[in-house]
Amino acid sequence: MIKVEGLTRKYGAFTAVDDVSFVCQPGRVTGFLGPNGAGKTTTMRVMVGLTPPTQGRVTIGGHLYKDIPNPGRHVGVLLDASAQHAGRTGREILTIGAQTMGLPLSRVDEMLDLVSLDRTEATRRLRNYSLGMKQRLGIAHALLGDPSVLILDEPANGLDPAGIRWMRGLLKSYADRGGTVLLSSHLLNEVEQIADEMILIGRGRIVAEGTKDQLLAGAEHKTSLVTALDNELLSKALQEKGITATPAGSGLRVDAPPVEVGRTSVEHGIVLTDLRAADGGLEELFLTLTEDSQRDELPGQPTTAPEGTAA
Ligand SMILES: Nc1ncnc2c1ncn2[C@@H]1O[C@H](COP(=O)(O)OP(=O)(O)O)[C@@H](O)[C@H]1O
Ligand SMILES: [Mg+2]
Repeated sequence: MIKVEGLTRKYGAFTAVDDVSFVCQPGRVTGFLGPNGAGKTTTMRVMVGLTPPTQGRVTIGGHLYKDIPNPGRHVGVLLDASAQHAGRTGREILTIGAQTMGLPLSRVDEMLDLVSLDRTEATRRLRNYSLGMKQRLGIAHALLGDPSVLILDEPANGLDPAGIRWMRGLLKSYADRGGTVLLSSHLLNEVEQIADEMILIGRGRIVAEGTKDQLLAGAEHKTSLVTALDNELLSKALQEKGITATPAGSGLRVDAPPVEVGRTSVEHGIVLTDLRAADGGLEELFLTLTEDSQRDELPGQPTTAPEGTAA
C-alpha cells in the first residue's frame, strides 16, 4: 500500500504539489491522471526519495522509501525510461540491477522474455533504443526484484497500440496477484481502461478521485441523444416545452438531460428506441476538473487567465 499524506512540494514561491493525500491499495491499479505540469512526476519522485517533500510524507507498506532495505525487492520504479547509462546494453542494465539487488542472473532473461525484448535487441546500447523499447526495458527493470508495489510514470509513452495493450494486461494480472500499481498518465484513455481507481490532479491539487463509476456519478448531463419511432412527433413535443431538438444521425440531439426526454416521451406515448446522455463522459469531466490547468482553450468553455504557472 502507498500512502500519501498531506504532501506539499514547493520550488521557491511556486507550489508544484499542494497538500496532496491519497492511498493506493494492493490488488488495485491506481491511475494518476493530470495534464502536463500537474505535479504527477514530482509526487512520484517524493515517493521514492528523489525529491524531499516540503511538507507531508509518503509511506510504502508503512515505511519511508529510504528506510526500506534493498528497496528494489519491494518497490519497482520507472520514472524516466531514458535515465540509464546510454552506452550500456539492455542486458547490461538488467544484469547490474540483478546484481545490485542480489538476484540470480536467470532473472535477466526472464524479464527480457516478459517484456518481449529479443536477444539481439538486448545486446544493443540504450542510446539506440526507441522510446518504446526503453519503456519495455524500464518495466523489466522495475519488475526485476519481484516487488509488491509498482510506481510507473507515464509508462505508455512511446509504446505502440499493441504495446499499450500488452502493458495493460501485464499490470492487470500483476494487480490480480495482489500487487499495488500506481501509474501516471496525461492521457485519459490510457488510464481509463486499466485503472480500478483514478486520482485526478490539476495544478498540484487533487481535483477528484474514485472508481470510474464514482467519478461519473457526479457528472451532470445536459444534452441527450434520442431516437424515437416517430422523431418528428417527439421533436414537436419537446419544442412545446421549450426544449430545443435538432436532427442528428437517425435521431435527435436534445438540449435537456435524458430524464427530461424520457418524461416527455411517456407523456405523449412516444416509443423510444435509443436514449442516452450526449455529454458528461469521463473526458469531459477530466477536462472540466483540470480546466484551469489546461494550456489550450477548450471549445465552448471560457478561458481562465493562467496565473503564474511555471511550465
Ligand atoms: N526541480 C524543479 N524546479 C522548479 N520547478 C519544478 C521542478 N520540478 C518540477 N517543477 C515544476 O512543478 C510542476 C509540476 O511538474 P511535474 O511534477 O513534472 O508535472 P507532471 O509530471 O504532472 O507533468 C511544473 O510546473 C514543473 O515545471
Ligand atoms: Mg511528468
